[in-house]
Amino acid sequence: MTAPLSTLHVELGTRRYPILIGDGILSEQLLPLLHESLPQHGRNILVLSNPTVAGHYLNAVLHAFQNHDKAYNVHHMLIPDGESYKSLATYSDVMDVLVKQRFDRDCVIIALGGGVVGDLAGFVAATWQRGVQCLQIPTTLLAQVDSSVGGKTAVNHPGGKNLIGAFHQPAAVLIDTQVLTTLPDRELGAGIAEIIKYGIMADAEFFRWLQQNMQPLLDKDPQALAHAIHTSCAIKARVVAADETEQGQRALLNLGHTFGHAIEAATQYSSWLHGEAVATGMVMAARLSCLRGFIGTTYRDAIIDLIQSAHLPTVPPIAMSIDTWLELMSRDKKVKDGTMRFILPTGPGAAEIFSNVTQAELTRVINESIAQA
Ligand SMILES: NC(=O)c1ccc[n+]([C@@H]2O[C@H](COP(=O)([O-])OP(=O)(O)OC[C@H]3O[C@@H](n4cnc5c(N)ncnc54)[C@H](O)[C@@H]3O)[C@@H](O)[C@H]2O)c1
Ligand SMILES: [Zn+2]
Repeated sequence: MTAPLSTLHVELGTRRYPILIGDGILSEQLLPLLHESLPQHGRNILVLSNPTVAGHYLNAVLHAFQNHDKAYNVHHMLIPDGESYKSLATYSDVMDVLVKQRFDRDCVIIALGGGVVGDLAGFVAATWQRGVQCLQIPTTLLAQVDSSVGGKTAVNHPGGKNLIGAFHQPAAVLIDTQVLTTLPDRELGAGIAEIIKYGIMADAEFFRWLQQNMQPLLDKDPQALAHAIHTSCAIKARVVAADETEQGQRALLNLGHTFGHAIEAATQYSSWLHGEAVATGMVMAARLSCLRGFIGTTYRDAIIDLIQSAHLPTVPPIAMSIDTWLELMSRDKKVKDGTMRFILPTGPGAAEIFSNVTQAELTRVINESIAQA
């Protein structure tokens, strides 16, 4: 059965924008969404994608513009697939195309891909001629529930991930759950990790729904996906509207990320997917929270069971020494004025930011986590 179309909005005043979610909606909804969210847009469109995604879905995007050749000048550019291409070098290649094609300030950048394409395209849009409009068509589950919404755009520097970037909200987000049919299972799982994050940090009822609906999600049931994506985006939209530039509560979205980023860095961003590292990071956050007495063992174990039911890892690499952990976590972007900050679950559907976690507590949590291997 197909899921009905649903729309959400990120409420940012004059920069308010829609998130459209549906199954098989890409071709038919693209132009209506473009017209509705960007009535004044110009005729130049650049579709950015990579060969993997373009092989499946570029035609559907180009098809939307068919019969409108006079109204539009649609270019597409493919960047190589992979995190290492979310770089200044690729950014510069895209800029060369925009210069060559004489793209103006009314042009629209369309991001067709996962978070790599989305972050790069968003950063291009944020900076080309001091900012042009961007429409996000996320094609990984992670991008659909996380990176396409909220306006964080960036490229990596050899010295660190996402070091060069800008806040630049998209004009609209178009989420077609049907594109997930071709997404590899491991990538699907990485997106489910971020979905579980929303349940833990903000919505106890959603957490219970996930406990009961993990298998349909893993089976890519369109209705289950649509519900999980809608609920996740609604939470993210609410948090972003309240704290666009992460002065406060937007940091709650980083639940599990301080531990997770350390795992990703220690494994050279190669063997663990971001969502997998976050999954284990959330387990560690739950353990820390339990040690501190914020949550009991029953809820801690419910978190671990849910993550396990998504076939996500719950134990960090045993080869990581305590020194490596402490060193990598103190380097994390979440560090403020030299103190590490941890987002910890404090009860069903609730989380808070803590900057007073001691080394002794961290050591205990790391040892307890490794002991589960
Ligand atoms: N801006 C933000 O707020 C934010 C939030 C979270 C993550 N991110 C960023 O997102 C990036 C990770 O994004 P990701 O997890 O989507 O990875 P990704 O973009 O690398 O995509 C993962 C893989 O799936 C392929 N793929 C994408 N869609 C597909 C589809 N429908 N069918 C088959 N294959 C498909 C891609 O080509 C790639 O090989 C990181 O760079 C991270 O920093 C940004
Ligand atoms: Zn994340």
